[in-house]
Amino acid sequence: MSRGIFLVFEGIDASGKSTHARRVAQLHDALFTFEPGDTPLGVDLRRWLLDASTPMKPETESLMMLADRSHHVATVIEPTLRSGRDVVSDRFFASSLAYQGYGRGVDLADLEAATDLAIGTCLPDLTVLIDIDLDTANERRARDEKDRFESADLDFHARVRQGYLDLARRYGDNWFVVDGSKSEEEVAAVIDERLSSLAWSNA
Ligand code: TYD
Repeated sequence: MSRGIFLVFEGIDASGKSTHARRVAQLHDALFTFEPGDTPLGVDLRRWLLDASTPMKPETESLMMLADRSHHVATVIEPTLRSGRDVVSDRFFASSLAYQGYGRGVDLADLEAATDLAIGTCLPDLTVLIDIDLDTANERRARDEKDRFESADLDFHARVRQGYLDLARRYGDNWFVVDGSKSEEEVAAVIDERLSSLAWSNA
């Protein structure tokens, strides 16, 4: 049995990545999963990670994200891919580089080294980056209680967005950047066109 394909959706908060990740997973009968928090251990890690009332050093935050990812790869992503089923993940290692690296200023080379430790050889076949500008993101974001990341200042989100665009340039072929400011239907059409050439297990 051949290995499943591994697709990742990335983007800043309110980019629409979760909507499209779920939709694409359903369309191709792939396993939908997300970070942080889609394992029993991850549920606890996510609670602490998003709790804005518990101050945390950026390095601590990074290591907890990586702990979540390491366990996620070992117990969910890798076994599913090995069973021949495709996986669609809402966020993966690029979130750590964009948020903790570009956003919080943690050394990128250190984060990349720790990422190797966390994910081994489990790399995405394709990362879809849904890019939106900050004004669009702010308009879309609900005005209710904010988690640790949502309550960060505007500059933080600007750095995260720029970080993602830099990563897309650096990683090149394995990334697909979509303009997420268009309507949901228009964004879906652009994504689906790009994904139609992938070797889905359930074609
Ligand atoms: P998520 O559940 O995807 O929230 P949203 O749908 O609002 O984007 O992610 C929760 C937060 O965790 C989000 O603000 C981004 C942050 N995050 C990091 O900072 N680093 C990481 O490595 C990951 C996976 C998420």
